[in-house]
Amino acid sequence: MLIKYMKSIHIYSLLSLLIAFSCSALAATENQYDNFHTYKDTDYQQAYRPKFHFTSKKNWINDPNGMLYYDGEYHLFFQHNPLGTGWGNMAWGHAVSKDMVHWEQLPHAITPYGSGYIFSGTGVVDHNNSLGKQVKNTKTLVLMYSYALDTRPNFGALTPPKETAYYQGIAYSTDRGRTFELLNDGAPIIPFQGRDVDPKGTQRDPKLFWHQESQKWVTLLWLGESSGGKIRVFSSDNLVDWEFETDMTRKWAHECFDLLKLPILNADGSMPDEVQYKWLMYDGSFDYEIGHFDGKNFKAEQKVKNHKLGHWNAAQTFNNSPDGRAVIIGWLKNSDFWRYKMPFTEQLSFPATLELRKVGNEILLYRWPVKEISSLYTQSWKLNSAKTLMQANSFLKKISPECFDMTLSISAKENFSLIIRGSILSYNHSKNQLNFISQKNQIKKLDWDKLRPEAQKNRKNWQLRPDQFTFSNVKNTSANIGMRILVDRGSFEIFFNQGQQVLTHSEISDLNNKNIQFKGESSIISSLTIHEIKSSWE
Ligand code: FRU
Repeated sequence: MLIKYMKSIHIYSLLSLLIAFSCSALAATENQYDNFHTYKDTDYQQAYRPKFHFTSKKNWINDPNGMLYYDGEYHLFFQHNPLGTGWGNMAWGHAVSKDMVHWEQLPHAITPYGSGYIFSGTGVVDHNNSLGKQVKNTKTLVLMYSYALDTRPNFGALTPPKETAYYQGIAYSTDRGRTFELLNDGAPIIPFQGRDVDPKGTQRDPKLFWHQESQKWVTLLWLGESSGGKIRVFSSDNLVDWEFETDMTRKWAHECFDLLKLPILNADGSMPDEVQYKWLMYDGSFDYEIGHFDGKNFKAEQKVKNHKLGHWNAAQTFNNSPDGRAVIIGWLKNSDFWRYKMPFTEQLSFPATLELRKVGNEILLYRWPVKEISSLYTQSWKLNSAKTLMQANSFLKKISPECFDMTLSISAKENFSLIIRGSILSYNHSKNQLNFISQKNQIKKLDWDKLRPEAQKNRKNWQLRPDQFTFSNVKNTSANIGMRILVDRGSFEIFFNQGQQVLTHSEISDLNNKNIQFKGESSIISSLTIHEIKSSWE
């Protein structure tokens, strides 16, 4: 095994030298990426700014990173381009919140150094001071990121290269996340990271966590596009010295792994008298397996399933969650706010609890918006008794909330549609399917070229995507179709059957169209509640 790794060691030491050299050269010049002070010129008042989905004050974001809870605060880091509204110059932006709903953006936590960028990763609270950096009673926050070194001119503005040198680094904070230091000046932390398996070198997105049963820190690393679906497992006692444990092969593996232990709930979401725990492992595109992780290897106990519908990528859960809830946030991708001349672009999904429930012989994943959303409710409307679609329409005609949280239950006797701002959710009775067709998909191609000509170069193949999604078997658990729909200025998030299927769809709504309307004949609305949502930035 060791001989196999000689090549990696060689590259590893070479990289360390290169970084050390570039860092010292850089120290003399001002870091152009540490520009959060310039964000003061921007506020949250723009017409298309999502009211309750996280966006950066300015510029591009993608994956959530390093999500953790410590001492009354949720920390959200995210892939961020401090210099523009396109992908590039990857840094870790940072925001904190007391309730996962109201966020305050803080200075960027980790910015590019050397000739490399800070790609995705995860964060932990160093509960037992493994790193030895703890100051008094304040626990150290430890972030592990992928460092993407590239010597191509202009790399910061280009898509991730096919061939580059990635390694994993650590940054830490001893002051509750207000400032961060690079461990060993940002040098590689994990050797043997998998170049033997994927010589083209795209090993990235470390998932770092404490494995209670083996009393070790564990890191999972995706070994890249050409590895044939490999995830490498490492363990450590001190967060600095890492040992190779095993390679797991999953054909479906793609980016940004998460691995966590969850209780198995009953089908209705209640806790059984005798609780069993299982491990959930998922990747960036939300393929997931449920099984057992022993600290070295994950053994699946049922076949791989997928929980992604719509615009979604690279989700992760909060480390050190304070109340036993697993809360997940993903990148609600394809939210091209720059096309509407916004100073920011892209957004994150609304935080949702992640649950495993036993349904028949299967264990299924469920997502549901966190209850803290209610702090944003202003007006609420409710249908008190069962109504026909026509009756519901005359009720809906009188209200026009811009952003809202709607819960409804329908006894579907035949096909029906729910039209929200021109986007159509239609039920096909014979197929027992719900189809979502966005309004964007129904209008002609926007004249986007004129809005941002420089973006054309990077987005040559950009075109309107067919935004149509299908929920299948929607009436499998009860006679009624139950759904919850969150509508923000830039998205629809639709949760079916208590969150068994979820569509996250980015759609920048027509500001003048606030219509909500049903079409159909004999179906009956059993219940309908709408809460108007105010801006979380106020
Ligand atoms: C997923 C991803 C990660 C990578 C990051 C770069 O969206 O491609 O694999 O670390 O984005 O921004």
